[in-house]
Amino acid sequence: MRDTFLPFSPPMLGDDEIDEVIDTLRSDWITTGPKTRRFEQEFAAKVDAPDALAVFSCTDAMQVALAALGVGPGDAVFTTTFTFCATAHVAVHLGATPVLVDVEPDTLNLDPSALRVAIERTLADGQLRPKVIMPVHYAGHPCDMVAIDAIAAEFGLHIVEDAAHAFPAALEDRTIGDPTAPSGLVRATAFSFYATKNIATAEGGMLTGPSDFIDEARLWALHGMSRDAWKRYGKGGSWFYEVVRPGFKCNMTDIQASIGLRQLPRLDGFQQRRGEVVARYREGLGELSEIELPTERAGITSARHLFPIRLHLDRLTIDRAGFMDRMAERNIGASVHFIPLHLHPYYRDRFDLAPEDFPVAWAQYQRLVSLPLNPRLTENDVDDVIEAVVEIVRHFRA
Ligand SMILES: Cc1ncc(COP(=O)(O)O)c(C=O)c1O
Repeated sequence: MRDTFLPFSPPMLGDDEIDEVIDTLRSDWITTGPKTRRFEQEFAAKVDAPDALAVFSCTDAMQVALAALGVGPGDAVFTTTFTFCATAHVAVHLGATPVLVDVEPDTLNLDPSALRVAIERTLADGQLRPKVIMPVHYAGHPCDMVAIDAIAAEFGLHIVEDAAHAFPAALEDRTIGDPTAPSGLVRATAFSFYATKNIATAEGGMLTGPSDFIDEARLWALHGMSRDAWKRYGKGGSWFYEVVRPGFKCNMTDIQASIGLRQLPRLDGFQQRRGEVVARYREGLGELSEIELPTERAGITSARHLFPIRLHLDRLTIDRAGFMDRMAERNIGASVHFIPLHLHPYYRDRFDLAPEDFPVAWAQYQRLVSLPLNPRLTENDVDDVIEAVVEIVRHFRA
């Protein structure tokens, strides 16, 4: 057993990132400036997007995306219950109503057939206008965007993808972040650079979308001040600006962008290591009939952000909480993604939801354990995780 704690997902920062931050601190620009712009452009190129907007978090990226789409009171925003609270909170912040939807049993992604039922029910009910779909690419595995796009086109809804886990990811030949969409619809994609994500800037987020949409979102991200307002303190900048929207304040700083600029070239290496860790987990755990390993459908590239295993509780004499305690005793930092939104008091009480209202999410939640998955894991670390899981399973076999 390990004698030191194995953290779940520590950041992977090195001298390059540190030197770039120091360079920024010694320069005249510490908040949004030239490095943020460069980071936007380099990121956009990586995901086949014409432009990108760097913001303080993925939450902010989703918030400005909904604001730029004019989402407000009376609008329904459809998303999955199997997500982090921010995905639904941003709709609430704008006075809109999040409508939660169940997930597919294999990927735990938004279920297109349940989505269709939720949209039709909302239309029949007549209280809310269906406006936006927010699919979440859970654990880095892309949603079934072919089916979701078709539903969006049929009902005239926009799409804001929560790609907090999905950089870099792809579905067939579309990179997640490419805003190409069925005609007449806007597709925007929000990414996270939170400390645990595939690339990290401490806190940070990026929004991609069509160029004119990103121009609109840029207004919302900085007080609604007319474009390039951040340049007003630089040489050639003008003191004059106009406020054209009641915008937020969620611009990325050049300090964050410095880290991001140096993380981007390391991405391929990070992904390769994630892939190796996943392969070792599959090899070391594949024989255990008491656990189920994550699905990867054909035709997708997963960002492999998380490695959520599922316990066959009927074949074990402990529950998930007991399993997590045993992992902690063995110094392994495991986690659970996610406690479905409809179980949290705010959403449960506001929408009068019972656990079984989303039967797939409810059943799968009780079985889930995310194992550590990050590029810092050594061969010994991975062996320790495998050994811990195997020992616990053997000890608690039914
Ligand atoms: C699925 C999902 N969406 C959104 C977020 C929010 O990201 P951020 O912390 O960058 O706002 C997270 C954060 O962990 C997440 O897991």
